Amino acid sequence: MLCLRQISIAGLLAAIAVLSGCRLDMHVQPRLNPLAKSDFFPDQRGARPLLEGTVARGQLHEDTYLYTGKIGPNPGDYMPFPVTKEVLERGRERFNIYCSPCHSPLGDGNGFIPSRGFSRKPPSYHTARLQKAPLGYFYDVITNGFGIMLDYSSQIPPRDRWNIVAYIRALQLSQNATKADVPAGQNVPSEPPTFLGDPGSGATLPVMAPEASSKSEDQK
Ligand code: HEC
Repeated sequence: MLCLRQISIAGLLAAIAVLSGCRLDMHVQPRLNPLAKSDFFPDQRGARPLLEGTVARGQLHEDTYLYTGKIGPNPGDYMPFPVTKEVLERGRERFNIYCSPCHSPLGDGNGFIPSRGFSRKPPSYHTARLQKAPLGYFYDVITNGFGIMLDYSSQIPPRDRWNIVAYIRALQLSQNATKADVPAGQNVPSEPPTFLGDPGSGATLPVMAPEASSKSEDQK
């Protein structure tokens, strides 16, 4: 005969078995498979579009000028941050990587890609039109492309685009400078930097000859 104790243990085990069998955890909640149809929403799209005005973390681009180069619909003509030597050096580095293959290290449009017939020759930056073009215009060309030139928005982050813009302006000044533009007390080296050719591709890269660069270090 079952004693009371055995009955209560059996009852307890049965209760545990029954209760654990009908747990309502998160894996049995109403949900939609990705991109599945839903009758809940009027447009029947299970995947919901972002609500208007949604901003992803780290993408609150409050400084519109930094991200567009525009004031209203027009390109602005100032830098969104001060131009320092570091800005120009970074700009030169990025320009030589991303732009010089077509635009040439001088920006005259004689890069090696057009010289091999792979692209139309880009215009020189040293024409009156582009010399007068506002800084924000160059930013916009890098961001959105121009004519057959593709945009560089996925390769070059916004600050680097501005660094390149500052360097392009410096290139433009350098190609139209006179002795009067040189600050008093500074020397203009009479020898231009030598261009060391890369025999493999036939391309030329501007590299300061070791001698010349060590001299300029001494002058500092
Ligand atoms: C693959 C070759 C190529 C590369 C790389 C390239 N460009 Fe260009 N770029 C062109 C060509 C070609 C044009 C002329 C496009 C046209 O007229 O349809 C052009 C035009 C331009 C213009 C002139 C727009 C005008 O108003 O005439 C600017 C400014 C410019 N590029 C900036 C840049 C900058 C800055 C970079 C680097 C971030 C760059 N480009 C990289 C090929 C290139």
